Amino acid sequence: MEDRKSIMDRIAETSKVATTGVDEKDIEHWVTIYIMGKAYKVPAALTIMQAMEYAGYRFIRSCGCRAGFCGACATVYRKEGDYKLHAVLACQTRVEDGMYLVQIPFAPAEKATYDINSERCDISTVLKYYPELARCVSCNTCTKACPQDLQVMDYIQAALRGDLATAANESFDCVQCGLCAIRCPAEIVHYHVSQLIRRLYGKYQLPEEQNLKKRIEEIESGKYEEEFKKVMSLSREELEKLYVEQQKTREVY
Ligand code: FES
Repeated sequence: MEDRKSIMDRIAETSKVATTGVDEKDIEHWVTIYIMGKAYKVPAALTIMQAMEYAGYRFIRSCGCRAGFCGACATVYRKEGDYKLHAVLACQTRVEDGMYLVQIPFAPAEKATYDINSERCDISTVLKYYPELARCVSCNTCTKACPQDLQVMDYIQAALRGDLATAANESFDCVQCGLCAIRCPAEIVHYHVSQLIRRLYGKYQLPEEQNLKKRIEEIESGKYEEEFKKVMSLSREELEKLYVEQQKTREVY
């Protein structure tokens, strides 16, 4: 049993290094965090996501792009003695000593279905699909919950005034993590609302983007067909090599 335990420990250690790239002997600063109530000592330089992996968790949900874009890693935490409940993205936030963490895998919410081509570009469309918008009490809780620091209440109020352009632009960086909707006392689903607004604004108010139009025409004319076929026929090793080469080119620029 003794031997077995030490083998398992060694495997766990190896896996820590493999998943986080961190070797314990190089670490000077440690913090203690609490995941689902259990304490773990982790290196201070890690993000919450890396720290959870370091502690032995394997993400099968609550993790996507690892780069702050997909919104899958919504996390809330509180620190001892702190009244504030913090809302963050786990892949973008460093661990701090004494964090009590919990992941929010997704926010259950009604998402309207519509045909954007046959809708009017005004607030009546938004209220038709999301009537709860009119219940906004301007409490600003949504803004405080946003890990992207978006002015959520402001863009909702702009929409209610009929200013869809402001609502679309102010919500542009939304990653749809759902934390705003979870905290809203009026039960507004801000991220779905703002997605509808951006679609209306993009379709009816924004001038047509000429470069995009040109690229779509090129794709439809088959200009890249040969290149697509070449990439699709590559093996995994060849694809990896190509990817590494492309990354090097990017670094130059
Ligand atoms: S994993 Fe995609 S935003 Fe964090």
